[in-house]
Amino acid sequence: MEFTQLITARYSVRAYKPDPVPVEALAQVLEAARWAPTAANRQPFRLIVVCTAGHEEALQRIYSGRWFTQAPLIICLCAVPGEAWVREDRRSYCDVDGAIVFDHLILAAANLGLGTCWIAKFDQQAARELLGVPPEMEPLLFTPLGYPAEELRPKKRRSLADLVRYVQW
Ligand SMILES: Cc1cc2nc3c(=O)[nH]c(=O)nc-3n(C[C@H](O)[C@H](O)[C@H](O)COP(=O)(O)O)c2cc1C
Repeated sequence: MEFTQLITARYSVRAYKPDPVPVEALAQVLEAARWAPTAANRQPFRLIVVCTAGHEEALQRIYSGRWFTQAPLIICLCAVPGEAWVREDRRSYCDVDGAIVFDHLILAAANLGLGTCWIAKFDQQAARELLGVPPEMEPLLFTPLGYPAEELRPKKRRSLADLVRYVQW
């Protein structure tokens, strides 16, 4: 897809078909994440790919929306704070890195016709337990990955006038 078309076509998919995600498509999505830039190239993240089939009820503990387990796959991005670049004023860029990686992954998925939805409002403890996440990592973001069973709804965004300020010296 052409880039402008891709960023406007991507939307939060909250209904999925059970159709499997081809292995090559999953590989492309994960590769896109791998090529994302991160502060000082530290790459302070790990990705966990979960097959939902047969584990729907348990996975629902992580996020209760029924659509979470409708897709054949769920991807979790774990942050690794100990690997992240930290500025002199102690500001860690770990979460920023995670968001860039996830955006690459999600746009790559949209480019292949796959649906995703960023999920931050999940149960941290359930995610740790079910996915076996060690203490040095932090589950930061989830998305289902599968073919959409719903259409793009009109999107609302603030105007550029609201969002942008120009400074001219
Ligand atoms: C960091 C982040 C966290 C989000 N967490 C959730 C979530 O927990 N549950 C949910 O249904 N949607 C979640 N969303 C999706 C947003 O609500 C959605 O992206 C926004 O309303 C814009 O809609 P669009 O994605 O269709 O363009 C999240 C999005 C972002 C970027």
